[in-house]
This record gives sequence, structure tokens and C-alpha cells, in this order.
Amino acid sequence: MTPARRAREKPGHGRGRNVSVRRIGARKVATLKPVAEQAVALKVNGKRYAVTVPVRRTLADMLREDLGLTGTHLGCEHGVCGACTILLDGQAVRSCLLLGVQADGHALMTVEGLSNGERLHPIQEAFWDAHGLQCGFCTPGFLMTISAFLKETPDPSEEEIREAIAGNLCRCTGYVNIIKAVQLAADRLRLPTV
Ligand code: FES
Ligand code: FES
Repeated sequence: MTPARRAREKPGHGRGRNVSVRRIGARKVATLKPVAEQAVALKVNGKRYAVTVPVRRTLADMLREDLGLTGTHLGCEHGVCGACTILLDGQAVRSCLLLGVQADGHALMTVEGLSNGERLHPIQEAFWDAHGLQCGFCTPGFLMTISAFLKETPDPSEEEIREAIAGNLCRCTGYVNIIKAVQLAADRLRLPTV
């Protein structure tokens, strides 16, 4: 866990709501209340999980640290880079901007849920074939964004693809090949399955 995240979950972080003040003699002394925890039951990639987490833990941290699903990456932790994108009830969301407790009762999909056993998902294969990645750090976020996008827009124009991935940042591949990968994936997904 990064120092920033450790600080976020620390008692007393955030406008002093976890601080109580006691009077000892003539002096007032501030003490820290323990961080509350909450039970969360959810489905991730078709599997049921029940965990108890600090109420301030982000959904991204809960997935990575409590459920061991480290395919969801963290870049900015401020909703800017898109690396932490997952599907919540089929909608692409940034898991660094949600709390784990907000996922209670919901169905999630992370990048680990895209492939079918050993077989890569057509979007993953298209990224491979079109060289849509280099270091791969941003790739889980792109894959999940594109997976939601192609369900809604199976035959997208280049302009629509550019708009769909505008919230995902890649620092090393360049977007030309990523756009080619999305076009290839869309073509393959539209083919009738045998
Ligand atoms: S880590 Fe969530 S948007 Fe960057
Ligand atoms: S492939 Fe390296 S940041 Fe996108």
C-alpha cells in the first residue's frame, strides 16, 4: 500500500471526523477514533466474495488487496488516467473513485474476467495482433473501457473510438495502434460465432 493510501485510511484523516475531544482536567485532548469497517458481499467475474473492509478503502484497493485481483492497475488515483477502469453492473467505472463498500450487492468485472480460461478475449487478441500495447500498464483500463464501449457501439467510427478512449492515458504505445486494435476487435466481435 502506498504512503498516500495508508494516510487516507489512517484514523483522523479527512476533516477531523474521526477525532474526538476529551477534557482532562483543564486541558482538552484530541483522541483518534478507530476506523470503521463494513462487510461487503459482491460478485466479481462471476464469483461471490464476502469481505470486511475499512469504509474508506477504495474499490481499487479492495480489489487488489482484499480480493487479490491485481490486474486492475492504479496510476493517478484521481480519476484521470483510466488505468483502474472496471465494469460495475456492465458500466465502465473508475475504481479509484469509488469506495469498496459502494460495491456491496453489485456485479463487477475486472480484466481477469475477460478471458475464457486460456483463451484470450477478442479485444485482448486484437491488442496483441495490432501491437496496441508496450509496457501494458494502461492496458487493463483500456480493455475494460473498450469492452463496455463495443457492447454499446459494435460498429464504431474512428471518431467514436477516439472519444471512447479519450479518458484513458497511455504513455508509451501511442494511440494509433490502440485505435487499430479497437477497430480490429470490433470487426472480429461482429463476425457470427460458429
Ligand atoms: S488510477 Fe483511477 S483514474 Fe487513474
Ligand atoms: S502501454 Fe505503456 S502506458 Fe500504455
